[in-house]
Amino acid sequence: MTNHEIKINFQEFASVEELDTTDQSLCNEAVKAMANSHSPYSKFRVGAALQLQSGKIIHGSNQENVAYPSGLCAERVALFYWGANHPDDPIESMAVTAHTDEFILNKPVTSCGSCLQVIAEYEKKQNKPIKTILFCKDGPVWVTLGIESFLPFLFFEDRLT
Ligand code: THU
Repeated sequence: MTNHEIKINFQEFASVEELDTTDQSLCNEAVKAMANSHSPYSKFRVGAALQLQSGKIIHGSNQENVAYPSGLCAERVALFYWGANHPDDPIESMAVTAHTDEFILNKPVTSCGSCLQVIAEYEKKQNKPIKTILFCKDGPVWVTLGIESFLPFLFFEDRLT
């Protein structure tokens, strides 16, 4: 038996103000994106903003539905919009934030497994890792580069060959 250990790497900043100006403005875009969250059921508002290589910014927000499984997370709303409209303009980074009036969020929201799988797909499609910036108003900022920090045992298509 061999015991293996996998280490993942992420950076923590005390606040958005510690980021460089490009990342700070992407965080501001994620806050703006939250305004269009449709979350009457969870009352948990999530905003995502993608920074594309051309400089273009894409917004996404969580869109819930009375038939609960029909809703979609902010990250996938933004990522699928990118896939449908700007697939040739690589994603440099994605900022994600959340807010609820129900309690104080003091840790960044971390993306669900389905969103991580979609990030993985598009990193492969564009052949370039995506920087992810997770933050909330009353907590630290977590920054990762590349999906393997989140999913070290990601399903790679070479397993199919
Ligand atoms: N949600 C997101 O939009 N992104 C995440 O990373 C976590 C969860 C949404 C889904 C649902 O509308 C609400 O937050 C509560 O789960």
